[in-house]
Amino acid sequence: MEKKEIKRSSFTGSLGFVLATAGSAVGLGNLWRFPYLAAKNGGGVFLFIYVIMALTFGFALMTTEIAIGRKTKLSPIKAYSNINKKFGFLGIIASIVPLIIFPYYCIIGGWVMKYMTEFTIGNGMDTVAEGYFSGFITSNFSPIFWCAVFMGISALIVFIGVDKGIEKFSKVLMPALFVLILGIAIFTLTIKGPNGTALEGLKIYFIPDFSGMTVGKFFGILIDAASQIFYSMSIAMGIMITYGSYTPKETNLVKSVNQIEICDTGVAIIAGMIMIPTVFAFQGSEGIEASGPSLLFVSLPKVFEAMGFVGNFVGVAFFVLVAFAAITSSVSLFEAIISVAIDKFSWSRKKSCVIVLIISAVIAFLTCLGYNVFYFELTLPNGVKGQILDILDYLANNIIMPVVALLTCILIGWIAKPKSIIDEIKINGEKFRREKLYTVMIKFIAPVFLILIFAAPFFV
Ligand code: PHE
Repeated sequence: MEKKEIKRSSFTGSLGFVLATAGSAVGLGNLWRFPYLAAKNGGGVFLFIYVIMALTFGFALMTTEIAIGRKTKLSPIKAYSNINKKFGFLGIIASIVPLIIFPYYCIIGGWVMKYMTEFTIGNGMDTVAEGYFSGFITSNFSPIFWCAVFMGISALIVFIGVDKGIEKFSKVLMPALFVLILGIAIFTLTIKGPNGTALEGLKIYFIPDFSGMTVGKFFGILIDAASQIFYSMSIAMGIMITYGSYTPKETNLVKSVNQIEICDTGVAIIAGMIMIPTVFAFQGSEGIEASGPSLLFVSLPKVFEAMGFVGNFVGVAFFVLVAFAAITSSVSLFEAIISVAIDKFSWSRKKSCVIVLIISAVIAFLTCLGYNVFYFELTLPNGVKGQILDILDYLANNIIMPVVALLTCILIGWIAKPKSIIDEIKINGEKFRREKLYTVMIKFIAPVFLILIFAAPFFV
C-alpha cells in the first residue's frame, strides 16, 4: 500500500533552530545538577574541566547528532538505518529514550508548576514548612494534577507545530529566561545572610579547591563532567537528530553548535552563581551539599523566606525561570517521540500528539503513584534508593543513553567514517577549524569516556 507522504516540518532559520535547541539543552540539569556537581567537585576545578570537555567531547557528540539529522532529514528511528542498514536497531533504542524520560520529566515539571503557582499567588512561604515537599509529592491527587498541566502545555506547543509552536515559543521563552537568570544573579550576588555574604560564597564556587585531590578523585570529576555534558546537551535521546532534521541546509552547523553550547554552559555557570552563594550565605556549606530536588524545592524556598519580603518576588522570578527551562526541554522530548510516530506510522502530527499524550499520561500517572500506593524502594547500582521515577531515570541515563552514544561513535567513527559528517558540516563551503579534533574525538576519545561513564558505578 502506498503510504501518505507527509510534508516534513522545519525551522524557519538559524535563530529558531539555535533557540529551540538551546531550549532543549537548558533545563533542570543546568539549574540543579550542574551547581551541585560543581560544589561537590572542588568548584573551579570542575568548571575548568567541564568547559574543556564541552568544547571537545560535547561538541563532537552534539555536532554528530545534529548533522545526522540534517543529512538524513529523518527521525531517529529511520536516520540510523539510513546511514547504515545494520544500525537500524540503534534507531529503535534511541527512540525509546524520550518515551522513558518524557513522563517523569513532566512529573518534575509539575512540581515546578506547583511551586511557581504557590509563589505567584503569594503562598510561597507555605512551602518552607517542615515536610511540605515530601507531603506534596506523596499525596494522591496534587502531583498528578500538576503533571497533567505541565504535560498538557508541552503537548500543546508540539501540537501547534515545529515553526509555529516550538520555534515561536522558544523565541519568547529563551530570551525571557536569559533576562531572568541574569537579573536574579545580579540581585543575589548583593545579598548578605547569617553565614556571610554571597560574594564569599562565590569564592567557594570559582576558586579551585585542590585539597585532598587524588588521582581517583580527579578521575571521578572527569566522569561527573562527562555525564553531565551528555545529559545537559540532550545527547543520545534522539532529540538532536530530530531538531537537526528540521534545520535548513543553509544553517552553519558549527556556528550554531557553538551558540547552543554558549547558552547551555553559560546558563549552567550562572545558575551556580545563584545557587551556591545564596545557599552558602543563608545555610552555610551544608545547604550546598543538598542535591537534586531538595536543593530546588527545600533549600531554596528557605533562602527566599530568609530574604524577607523581597524573597517573595525572587521566588516567583526563580520558579518562572525554572518552568521556562523545563518546558522547552520537555517540548523537545515530546517532539522527538512525535517525529518517530509521524515517520514510522505515517500518522498526522495531531493524531500522533493525541496517542503519545495518552500513553505518556498513563506512564506518568503510574509513576506519580510510585510515591504512594505503589511505594517501594529499590537500591540502584549507583547506590541511590529509588522509586519508579528514579528507576526510569537510571535506566535512561545510566544504561541506554551511554550505549546509544557509544554505538553512534562506532557508527560514525569507524563504519560510516567521520568524513560523512564532516561533508555535511561543510556543505555550504563552511570552514571547520576543529575538523582534526572532531575526528580524534569521535573515533577514540569520546568512546573511551563513554565506556568509562558506563563502567564507573562498578568500580568508583
Ligand atoms: N538537557 C536537559 C537539561 O539540562 C535535560 C533533558 C533531558 C532535556 C531530556 C530534554 C530531555 O536539563
